[in-house]
Amino acid sequence: MQGQKREQWASKFGFILAAAGSAVGLGNIWKFPYVTGQNGGAAFVVIYLIAVLIVGFAVMVGEFAMGRLTQKNIVGTYTQLQGRNWGWIGWLGVFCGIVILSYYSVIGGWTIRYLVSALGGVSHFASEGGAGQFFSKFTQNGKEVLLYQGLFMLLTMVVVFRGVASGLERWCKALMPALIVLLIVLVIRSVTLPGAAAGVSFYLKPDFSKVTGTTVMAALSQAFFSLSLGLGTMLTYGSYLRKDVDLPKSALQICALDTFVAVMAGLVVFPAAFAFNVQPGAGPGLSFVTLPVLFAKVPLGQVWAFCFFVLLFLAALTSSISMLEIPVAYLLDRGWSRPKASTLMAIIIFVIGIPSAIGDSLGWSLFGKDIISAGSYLSDSILMPFGGLMICLVAGWFKRGSVLTEAGLGASKALTSFWFFLVRYVAPVAIIAVFLSGLKG
Ligand code: TRP
Repeated sequence: MQGQKREQWASKFGFILAAAGSAVGLGNIWKFPYVTGQNGGAAFVVIYLIAVLIVGFAVMVGEFAMGRLTQKNIVGTYTQLQGRNWGWIGWLGVFCGIVILSYYSVIGGWTIRYLVSALGGVSHFASEGGAGQFFSKFTQNGKEVLLYQGLFMLLTMVVVFRGVASGLERWCKALMPALIVLLIVLVIRSVTLPGAAAGVSFYLKPDFSKVTGTTVMAALSQAFFSLSLGLGTMLTYGSYLRKDVDLPKSALQICALDTFVAVMAGLVVFPAAFAFNVQPGAGPGLSFVTLPVLFAKVPLGQVWAFCFFVLLFLAALTSSISMLEIPVAYLLDRGWSRPKASTLMAIIIFVIGIPSAIGDSLGWSLFGKDIISAGSYLSDSILMPFGGLMICLVAGWFKRGSVLTEAGLGASKALTSFWFFLVRYVAPVAIIAVFLSGLKG
């Protein structure tokens, strides 16, 4: 905004936490386990790790550096670096953020439903049957899902309304350590259940014979989703960043933390799923059916369940905040006020999300999938990899001089050169190859 100083993170630590807060969310605890389950288990996990290291890390540093270089939102960044004709790539990112948040808020609403339910005890979750029934009864009840989605959007809006330093940073500080501690406790409970061993081996013993182009594409899409890449979230966060922060190192830390949480979530979900006879390929309900049964089986289960869903809700909130921040940052740069921009965008996204919330109960479908899967296919498998590829091209080729300098400020030479090699050659080739093979496979 002209004449007004751009908002900045209060501290470097605050930035790392906010970026990690964006990355760690439902993608780790809800999506990663079910996508792993649908794609055959351990081999998918291995491919996912490779995707994070060679593509995710490369794109993340690219986004941070481009945002900090231009001090602008994603549309402004492309226009400034590449000229007016490139603005649409930024727009595509803004659009994709809106699509994701429209269904993400529905799942965010589920977490609120579950934490409310935990208040009433966990005995109705005592078996796979009970938990499965609760899940399908709830998701089939369009009005209720919509109500919780609205509540989730409202809370997201309130935080974004208040701005980066006071809003985003503060939320992220206590959350991450608490989530990790709770996950560790749950891993221990889950792997010691009778019958858990089959789940552990499904999750950790790879069988590469089942890997197809689709598996690799699912892993890459999941990496983009989980690390919040390809549509300008990390770029926007980079634009609020001081020049003395080491970008490659920060990105490495954020990737490591995000991956750790996802891997731990799988280690909670799969042993428990096998122990309770929940199908690992059960789809979006996997975590929401398996975890409640687990809680019903531990002493003080109600307390654990409540704490867990509160944390999951907060993790989802710090991610949804970061998605709402993309279009809001664009409007701020156009001279809008924060309250006006966040309120308007939250309302629009809520309305776009209505079909995702009630689609299940009405049996709606789009491109032969349910509404949420259709939205996530469009965003994760097409728009995000495309956005990531564009980041690689600008950072590694078109504006390589200035982006490389920006990425190297205060950073180790070796890591910066490693990043540059990845972003220039490895990541773009990998994205294109995976995309082509995924289309065929
Ligand atoms: N990474 C988040 C998660 O794992 C979701 C998310 C937040 C996101 N911001 C994003 C995904 C931007 C893509 C782009 O839950």
